[in-house]
Amino acid sequence: MVSVTAPGKLLLMGEHAVVYGYPSLVTAIDERLTVEAEKIVDSRVEVNAPQAGDTRFVDESVRQAQRAWGIPGGGFRINTQSTFSGKYGFGSSAAVTVATLKALALLYQKDIDQRKLFDISYKTVIAVQGVGSGFDVAAAIYGGTIYFVTGGKVIEPLKSNELPFIVGYTGVKADTTTLIKQVAEKKEKNPEKVERIFQAIAKLVDEAKLRILEGDWERVGRLMDFNQEYLRDLGVSSEKLEAMIGAAKKAGAWGAKLSGAGGGDCMIAVARSDKREAIRKAIQEAGGEVIDVHPNAQGVRVETTDDQGEVFIVVDKDDKVLGFRSRYDCHHDKSLIHRTVGAVIVDTKGNVLLQKRSSSKDTGAGLWGISCAGHVRKGQVYEETLHRELQEELGVDMPISLIAKFVVQDDQESEMAALYRGVSNGPFRINHEEVECVEFFSPRELPFKVATKEIVLTKCAEISLQKAGFLS
Ligand code: MEV
Repeated sequence: MVSVTAPGKLLLMGEHAVVYGYPSLVTAIDERLTVEAEKIVDSRVEVNAPQAGDTRFVDESVRQAQRAWGIPGGGFRINTQSTFSGKYGFGSSAAVTVATLKALALLYQKDIDQRKLFDISYKTVIAVQGVGSGFDVAAAIYGGTIYFVTGGKVIEPLKSNELPFIVGYTGVKADTTTLIKQVAEKKEKNPEKVERIFQAIAKLVDEAKLRILEGDWERVGRLMDFNQEYLRDLGVSSEKLEAMIGAAKKAGAWGAKLSGAGGGDCMIAVARSDKREAIRKAIQEAGGEVIDVHPNAQGVRVETTDDQGEVFIVVDKDDKVLGFRSRYDCHHDKSLIHRTVGAVIVDTKGNVLLQKRSSSKDTGAGLWGISCAGHVRKGQVYEETLHRELQEELGVDMPISLIAKFVVQDDQESEMAALYRGVSNGPFRINHEEVECVEFFSPRELPFKVATKEIVLTKCAEISLQKAGFLS
């Protein structure tokens, strides 16, 4: 199973203008949406999104991934869950789109970088919503605080340690598409005026970017106030937003404005730390709900890819089956010797293939291991498991022969390791969920690289390479 999370966002400045080619400032917040994807025997696509209400963004992500990457039309399940409610306007649609596409890319071993992920995610959001600048998609992918121009023409991460914001929710769910249409109608009727407003907002955003980098929050506050005036002119503020913004200002905020499409959703205030309590109270007294979110959150990321509930076979020192325990138990109790299987693959010149373990593994993350290894699950036997692992991790299969079976213990776990040998020159199709990279090493250079710590091996790999005759 693959588990991916993506953050929500808060728009700091530049809303609406950013739909028309102008810049904006956005920060990712520490509320995350999780997407889990796994292959299933069923030929359908199963989507469980209990909080989402509708699954349009997940469904469209699947369609786009099928079209762009040729992934199968079924045979997988997607589950979503979130630490934040869709009602706040924190960008759950963009986050679920980004996380779904990233999860599908991992599940089907598609090598996509952040830019490609942005392009396909933005296309997906537009296919569902019809409108939008994509700033929320960028925040979900890149995280941190970003200077963003429409459609990802510019995505510039800004280094900023603190962002002293207070966020208040109006209690009114805004409909972004309707508000964007309202502004479009206004622009149609009064093109020069609206264009002038957008240009003025863009100037404020450009200056705010510099002030954020300098940490001049008092000035950022002023710029936010000016931005709010223009948003009011565009007709996207509301009585409730104005009441909360006014209250925050009266209580000592450097500046305050609506955040997002307007009409409802949230407002933000920027303030010195000793004013925060008074501002929180003032927002509440104006009928708002203060929401504790932290800015500058990390962008989309792969959570541990190992299913902690997987059931392993527990044995005694002679490999006699004693029972079955979860992956989690086996990796947290050294008395539970559990079955694992591994292969040392050599090429026809005698070089040995090693793999660097992915950073999302729950044990030995980032260390070097033998060519391929895995746990023997309940109901399976050593050789069957190894053939499956060879295909899943490296995209190859070959005849295998047993080298040795032995118990290996490190400070976390005890394994009954069955070690096999196989011959292959590749090519290898790597599963990046499990493996960062693979490389052949000559039998002469390997001991040197290990001794100089150029390669740091897992304990099991060290013993296995000794048993296979590559290390002494
Ligand atoms: C909505 O949160 C912000 C808008 O600028 C729309 C967008 O940029 O996609 C109104």
